[in-house]
Amino acid sequence: MSTTQVVPDASGSASAREGYPDHRRMVRFDWTGTPLHWVPGDPFSTHMVNVLHLLLPAGERWFIGVVNEAAPLVGDPEVARAIQPFVQQESWHAWAHAVVLDEMAKHGIDSEPFTKSLERYFARTGSPKPNWPEPLQRWWLHRRLADVAAIEHFTAVLGQWVIQNRGLDYAGADPMMLDLLRWHGAEEVEHRALVYDVFEDLSGSYVLRCLAMLFVAPSLLAWWLRGVRYLMAHDPTSPPRPRWRDWFRAARQYRVPGPWMLIVTTPMRYMRPGHHPSKEASTELARQYLAQSPAARHARATAGNGSA
Ligand SMILES: [Fe+2]
Ligand SMILES: [Fe+2]
Repeated sequence: MSTTQVVPDASGSASAREGYPDHRRMVRFDWTGTPLHWVPGDPFSTHMVNVLHLLLPAGERWFIGVVNEAAPLVGDPEVARAIQPFVQQESWHAWAHAVVLDEMAKHGIDSEPFTKSLERYFARTGSPKPNWPEPLQRWWLHRRLADVAAIEHFTAVLGQWVIQNRGLDYAGADPMMLDLLRWHGAEEVEHRALVYDVFEDLSGSYVLRCLAMLFVAPSLLAWWLRGVRYLMAHDPTSPPRPRWRDWFRAARQYRVPGPWMLIVTTPMRYMRPGHHPSKEASTELARQYLAQSPAARHARATAGNGSA
């Protein structure tokens, strides 16, 4: 079961468990000044990160569907209460990344064939099965929750990574894109324990948790590599295909996470028996970023009532 503790949120009230979302920040980004290659002179790093815009809108909407399906079955009232801000945060993330896809379309990159293919994949592997017998339906929900919890481990680790690393700043990356990535990364760190605790509340199976990670890690890697190949093939101004050596170089420059981190260390940590997301990443660091993020500050000022 969960090993959470109460910590004060950004406003000073002790209302949230470690790794639980507090509220949605309704941030907006102005993309008019962002070039296609927003990491100057580095189409590989640009598109390696751009894959997130392809994967996250469909992915996060799928997370929301699974968590909403589980919500009526959750017994722990504090976990149940945190589901609504989680859903609100993820839906705003999905929207914010989808806007970037519209901007990429203006540069001649049509992402729809890729995103449609991803949506079909989620429909095939992650839809409810209302005609199945009740115990199988329950297992199927647990299995999908375990997958979402495993992916949320990646989003929290990547969130912490993008807040902490300065490689993209040194490369002169577009500040608007960096703020999008860091705002999203910070909220992923902020709510990193919620889906895990929903899974623990409903199932808590260690075997299922590990099996989910063994399925999710290679699937995520395959979709990521497919995404970067797709973007580079459809960008008329970039080399036609990525090379492994590009990834090693960009990882050495701390512009993108390296293969070792994605394939080995991140999944391994998740599969430790004593793992809990509250031990991974730092809420304090995430909220420090959210306090100074230009988009989050603008959202707070616009709302004017502390709700954004
Ligand atoms: Fe998200
Ligand atoms: Fe998330």
